[in-house]
Amino acid sequence: MQRKVYIETYGCQMNVADTELVLGIMSAAGYDRAVEMDKADVVLVNTCSVRENAEQRVFGRLGDFKAIKKSRPEVIVGVLGCMAERLRRELIESESHVDLVIGPDEYRRLPVLVENARAGEKGIAVRLSRVETYDDIAPLRTEGINAWLSVMRGCDKFCTFCVVPFTRGRERSRSLSGIVDEVKGLADRGFKEVSLLGQNVNSYRDNGSDFADLLSHVAQVDPSLRVRFTTSHPQDMSDKLIETIAGHKNICNFIHLPVQSGSDRMLRLMNRTYTTEHYLRLVDKIRGTIPGVSLSTDVIAGFPTETEAEHQMTIALMQEVGFDGAFTFKYSPRENTKAWHMTDDVPEEVKIRRLHEIIDLQRTISLRRNQLLIGSAMEVLVEGESKKSPSDWCGRTDTNKVVVFPKNGAAIGDYIAVSIDRVNAATLFGQSRSNEVHIDVLSYFVHRG
Ligand code: SAH
Ligand code: SF4
Ligand code: F3S
Repeated sequence: MQRKVYIETYGCQMNVADTELVLGIMSAAGYDRAVEMDKADVVLVNTCSVRENAEQRVFGRLGDFKAIKKSRPEVIVGVLGCMAERLRRELIESESHVDLVIGPDEYRRLPVLVENARAGEKGIAVRLSRVETYDDIAPLRTEGINAWLSVMRGCDKFCTFCVVPFTRGRERSRSLSGIVDEVKGLADRGFKEVSLLGQNVNSYRDNGSDFADLLSHVAQVDPSLRVRFTTSHPQDMSDKLIETIAGHKNICNFIHLPVQSGSDRMLRLMNRTYTTEHYLRLVDKIRGTIPGVSLSTDVIAGFPTETEAEHQMTIALMQEVGFDGAFTFKYSPRENTKAWHMTDDVPEEVKIRRLHEIIDLQRTISLRRNQLLIGSAMEVLVEGESKKSPSDWCGRTDTNKVVVFPKNGAAIGDYIAVSIDRVNAATLFGQSRSNEVHIDVLSYFVHRG
């Protein structure tokens, strides 16, 4: 009987993409994917270390895996990803039911290590590589609308709070031709959107090509394929990149641009390598070049020594920019990082209060930004049924806004014009203007030549 592998994924989109790589590797070794854990011969968890609570969730889940191992001792349990890299031997020692600990650059060895584990040999493979990009591995993707695609691995920025450079190693890029070929294959298979991933995509390099070159090559594969990307570091965002986004209709008008703090002293302590002035100028340039662009960000509350006045600077910056969305985090000290050696001196209750102020403010701003869209018609890519109402579709605009509207004939994967008549901070609601869809999509192609 065919062996089966079950895998759960935590953390960022790069882990989602890595899970598909791992499934590709396991499938080439003769495994099928198991949808349920209790049918699997190999149970894997792809983990995240970015904040303490991310790790706590995984430890909780590993507790559940103990029961599986008890009832079926022949099952191989493996921990993959950033926690494997960070905790290494500690994981096998503290979690006796774990057979394998495999870091992000060692996935090619997975089938062999599983075989060894079957013979009773626990395995730890956590070497980080300067060259591994898995360029030749075909990820096993489930059919759908969007495909994640890592264009680079690792990070060289060493922001002082961040564990990623330690768990993912040095920055390295996949080949441009390999990426473009993969995107062609995805378009042929009916994917409607690709998201190019990297911790700092702006430092992508392949021989003479930079990220702007990569984006325009990918955009030219198929004009009806949406192209998204994340994450952009504010220091490295070039004019050429901004112009490239503006110059291609199918490169989405949405940029995730983490600011982290509105205080220059905090940014220096975080080693973010830009100032708030640089950031604000960049936002002006982006808005001046890409009409209707939507911006999101990441913010950390309560970094070591952050004062009330500095917290207010973050609030002021958020008000000034008016982000469409923000991911907000309470500072969490991570071992090995530079900030680990700073005293984590902002009391927990102050961190929580600051975080809530940031969240509340963002909710108000998101609502205000969305209200501006009432009365307009937006092109929506239908992604699936609304979770709340089976008679509605759910999709996204090019600016990454979620739109819910009555089904009215359209199908998943269609581009539909929707007039927006109601919004909240997270979602736009409207009616499809089905007669115009065709025209809209047609003009879309005509303009693209
Ligand atoms: N490469 C991306 C972000 C990766 S981690 C970038 O540079 O933007 C995603 C977000 O998690 C970060 O932007 C930061 O806001 C947050 N984060 C990372 N480490 C953290 C920590 N130790 N405590 C709290 N938030 C953290
Ligand atoms: Fe972490 Fe900074 Fe690299 Fe982002 S750019 S992954 S925050 S070190
Ligand atoms: Fe987490 Fe690793 Fe991604 S720490 S955020 S899974 S790179």
